[in-house]
Amino acid sequence: MHIRKIPENVFSAMNFNDEFNYLWNPQISSSILGLGYSYYFEFIEYFAERINRIYSELILDKDLASDNDIFMKQEWQHALAHKPLNEFIASISPPGKEKYHGNVYDFMYINYKLYYEPILHDILSNDLITLDNISLKRGIKDVAIFESKTCVSSFVFFEQLFDGGNIKRILSLSNNLGILYLLAYHFVEEMEHSYVALDLYEELYHEKLWDISLVESEITNQSIENNQAVQYGLYAAKLLGVNVSVRDIECSSYYKFTVERQKYFINENFHPRLPSVSKIREYYINQWDNIWEPMVLDAINTKVATGR
Ligand SMILES: [Fe+2]
Ligand SMILES: [Fe+2]
Repeated sequence: MHIRKIPENVFSAMNFNDEFNYLWNPQISSSILGLGYSYYFEFIEYFAERINRIYSELILDKDLASDNDIFMKQEWQHALAHKPLNEFIASISPPGKEKYHGNVYDFMYINYKLYYEPILHDILSNDLITLDNISLKRGIKDVAIFESKTCVSSFVFFEQLFDGGNIKRILSLSNNLGILYLLAYHFVEEMEHSYVALDLYEELYHEKLWDISLVESEITNQSIENNQAVQYGLYAAKLLGVNVSVRDIECSSYYKFTVERQKYFINENFHPRLPSVSKIREYYINQWDNIWEPMVLDAINTKVATGR
């Protein structure tokens, strides 16, 4: 093994200017995949090197230690070699609109492309669509899953922030009553209409939404890595300059209780119309309409009037 050096002209040939052409390969998709590797390589190689700094001291075998040394030097060089290309592409601002959705925020793009776009493409490019269409069923099911989970997330929101006299404390501690109102108003309507999405699914497909396997995949084995609210929240934190880790979110009372309550409520045959679930929905909706919303609005109006 030895450490090679890339001749300078290789970088000149990449043409980092208006004439840049990403088609290093005659095929578009293979060219794009190559660029994906370029980003993947750069980060994972720094990552390997960062870990190496800890374990390299612990290697007892001399030959292995010296091989590891060259291995890491090669990796470090690779990361450096990819950086100019990766930084150049990262600096290009994207031209705009997605085909099936007016405006996908940049940080939602990967989920959109991997998950939502194929469904939308299949549904919207198909003239004769029937209920048998797998993408249509997937889409209707996804909405019903979202509605079920959000219904329970709403319980946690009101339980933790408003119920049992908590509202007074939250109103005095909140630094943005507008966001508090927005989320509360939205969660109320989510609880209110959540049953419709399940009725729809069950009416159209003549089967219960929540069977054992769905409960397992969506609830029992849900992972924080796939939680879109967590993913987008982390990015919002980056934009706001807030240093928060996944572990911090995982330990937050809102996240912990949401997962716990979802596990408690969403079992086989879950439906927001189940009497035990309906009772809670109605309670929170009434509380919001009659007591909590006026209180939040009152606090907002006072704040606006006093300019504080
Ligand atoms: Fe909504
Ligand atoms: Fe909804």
